[in-house]
Amino acid sequence: MSEEKERYVINGGNPLVGEVEIGGAKNAALAIVAASIMTDETVSIENMPDVRDTNVMLEAMQSIGVNVDRIDRHTVKINGSMVKNVNIDTESIRKIRASYYLMGALLGKYKRAEVPLPGGCDIGSRPIDQHVKGFRALGATVSIEGGIVKASAEKLVGAHIYMDVVTVGATINIMMAASMAEGKTIIENAAKEPHVVDVANFLNSMGANVKGAGTDIIRISGVSKLKKCTYSVIPDQIEAGTFMYAAAVTKGDVLIKNVIPKHLESISAKLIEIGCQIQEFDDAVRVAATKRLRPTQIKTLPYPGYPTDMQPQAGVALALSDGVSTITESIFENRFKYIDELVSMGANVRVEGNTAFIEGVEGFSGAHIKAPDLRAGAALVIAGLAAEGCTVIDDIYYIQRGYEDFDIKLRKLGARIEVEKISEKVTKANFKAIS
Ligand code: UD1
Repeated sequence: MSEEKERYVINGGNPLVGEVEIGGAKNAALAIVAASIMTDETVSIENMPDVRDTNVMLEAMQSIGVNVDRIDRHTVKINGSMVKNVNIDTESIRKIRASYYLMGALLGKYKRAEVPLPGGCDIGSRPIDQHVKGFRALGATVSIEGGIVKASAEKLVGAHIYMDVVTVGATINIMMAASMAEGKTIIENAAKEPHVVDVANFLNSMGANVKGAGTDIIRISGVSKLKKCTYSVIPDQIEAGTFMYAAAVTKGDVLIKNVIPKHLESISAKLIEIGCQIQEFDDAVRVAATKRLRPTQIKTLPYPGYPTDMQPQAGVALALSDGVSTITESIFENRFKYIDELVSMGANVRVEGNTAFIEGVEGFSGAHIKAPDLRAGAALVIAGLAAEGCTVIDDIYYIQRGYEDFDIKLRKLGARIEVEKISEKVTKANFKAIS
């Protein structure tokens, strides 16, 4: 793949200043496009992010007969009436985590689904036992054979399901399948993330009956048929948060537009704690930093706690702070892979178990590093923007999975970042050319 041969070349050290527009939430969009096959009518989805993961999902849906019509870059019309089989297996679908949403959608509508075990970023073991438990509770038979999850049912019947862990994916998946089950389903200990609410709102727009999304008890009354709707995906909380940290670590001043400030509260609160100025508007948030950041403690938690997807970005900021910080990662065990890269840029961080002990340094220096996964990759870009000198980041296809036009948006804020084909030799002349 040609994209796999690209890398970022960043000349850091200058503050980001200006305005940036945030796109639709990748993780909401992935579930919403999957759920859209649950009606035979045409669904129109707006504010779709144009990122690799959503595009892979749409391609996989096309491979089973779903009609996908891109009206423009951020609008897509989907018609699932022509689904010809419920067995999805493309090479690309194995690489994305959200393939599991096709299980809930297909099982709900067709009472059968065969989907490969989900891939996605290697941020720790990512079991699907709670998805399986939910489908079984609804009456499905589920087996995993040769890497394929096979689920089928004569009919789905509503059930009372208590989730053993708070999981976004399983909550959404069960919500989708239960929307077309007979009778009532209650999901207890449900995830409360903004995209859980967004998917519930989408299902309701299609005629489903989902109540309580955003609290830890979701009640679903199954319906036999769903219908067309037009729906706009919520803004991406994590993309917004990433730009908020980019402003903070470069001592910049950035207005982040098209956001829901409520969804950003845990991130804003941390940024205030470490010395940033935050101004909230109806649908924008402004982040400014003038002084060296202060240290703090962070523990990742399910929403409304501090998001695990914002942990690496925080790690970069705290590694530049004036003192000792700790970050405890309580959701995924393998999310500190960016630390080695950060250390090679001059950071002083020690990881023990699921905690990173960070002693802030005054600055980073540019280095040749690689993106270990999506969010860690984005965090390392931020580190490169704050660093003195040139940083080269390989494996940026991870970042392209979830950030639309990342380099373009950063350049508009004054960042000196270029995409370079890996075959091109990176020379000092190249570095000068973009400085
Ligand atoms: C989703 C997001 C990911 C984000 C994560 C947490 C997508 C495509 N990905 O991932 O970006 O980091 O939410 O906000 O939307 N667990 C189980 N059994 C299960 C399912 C999960 O034990 O059946 C555990 C996981 O190992 C993890 C925790 O529950 O420790 C949370 O996982 P979950 O919320 O399901 O994350 P994902 O849906 O995989």
